[in-house]
Amino acid sequence: MEILVLNGPNLNLLGSREPDVYGLQSLSDLEKSCRTVGSECGVEIDFRQTNSETELVDWLLYAFESKKNVILNPAAFTHYSYSLRDACSAVTRSGLKLIEVHISNPHSRESFRQNSVISAVATGVIAGFGFSSYHLAIRQLSER
Ligand code: DQA
Repeated sequence: MEILVLNGPNLNLLGSREPDVYGLQSLSDLEKSCRTVGSECGVEIDFRQTNSETELVDWLLYAFESKKNVILNPAAFTHYSYSLRDACSAVTRSGLKLIEVHISNPHSRESFRQNSVISAVATGVIAGFGFSSYHLAIRQLSER
């Protein structure tokens, strides 16, 4: 089984952007840790990051077409992207699983972060556990 792990805008700056919120580890550290957990769970990890909403939508439609479960950190798109929401909805309505993850807990932050347009069409949401939010999601999706 292969899981798509998709990351939205500015997550390429992990380690240098707001380290008090997101920690000191980089995107490539996150990728490595996801691969380690994936191999412990016997699943392949296809790990991607983009700053482009279009590209993220295309990757979700690829998940839909190729029938792959998804872990998605939509980053700032979480709070306003209806095109991302519609693509997520296509994934979950087809019976695939999509877990929305966040490194921080957006509910404890600025008010604009407290609404997610994605959560209602996600299978589930894991937030506030740092990189472990991703690891918990991988473990969940690898359960058969
Ligand atoms: C984030 C939370 C979002 O509000 C923010 O825009 C991000 C990262 C998180 O992982 O905590 O870029 O999705």
